[in-house]
Amino acid sequence: MTTLSAAETMRFGPLRIAFDGRVLRPRPWTEAQSVWAAEILASAPPGPVLELCSGAGQIGLLTVVGSGRPLVCVDLNPAACEWARHNAEQAGLADRVEVREGPMDRVIEDPERFALVVADPPWVRREEVGRYPEDPVVAIDGGRDGLDVAWSCIEVARRHLAPSGTLLLQLGTVEQVDALRARLRGGGFTITEVRWCDRGVLVRLDLT
Ligand SMILES: C[S@@+](CC[C@H](N)C(=O)[O-])C[C@H]1O[C@@H](n2cnc3c(N)ncnc32)[C@H](O)[C@@H]1O
Repeated sequence: MTTLSAAETMRFGPLRIAFDGRVLRPRPWTEAQSVWAAEILASAPPGPVLELCSGAGQIGLLTVVGSGRPLVCVDLNPAACEWARHNAEQAGLADRVEVREGPMDRVIEDPERFALVVADPPWVRREEVGRYPEDPVVAIDGGRDGLDVAWSCIEVARRHLAPSGTLLLQLGTVEQVDALRARLRGGGFTITEVRWCDRGVLVRLDLT
């Protein structure tokens, strides 16, 4: 059991999630990503779930809590990984959740395959990061057009999804979805559904 003392906790679906100011504050609307991911998981191929950019882990934990599937959470922020481990333990999921610390393209072995990848990359355009002084920069800075880390997620998913697997990606704006669609053309994925939520966008990409 980890011995972190939480600055704060909040409910995320049935889970209680602990976090502090070193990580992004969990956003209630993102429960929609977990709910949709759990629906997809019900008919996904066998295998574990990969959560990229997991932060405190709440989106991935809520995705798998009712399924019995193993979950691998990845984040390069050591504090996020500490909280993700803590939250997995508190949820009674420590035996099937592994948290890996590091850049996503360095911590997954070549032969590993996942039934579902859930990704929540930083998607704020770099020039707008200053509008969110309460958020850690590493958690929100998505580069010039906000898509730098999202493309890394797509590359990792392309390499590590099982056949018929799905990537459920979070983005910020309509323009980002359009840019993704234009650049993806012929790139191994089809965008099969887009859902607009309160404060962001969820994009389902299936391997073609
Ligand atoms: C938008 S936050 C999402 C965190 C969490 N899913 C949430 O909803 O609170 C993005 C996360 O991506 C992590 N991150 C940024 N670049 C990364 C990379 N190259 N590899 C792994 N994690 C990364 C950050 O540390 C941060 O925790």
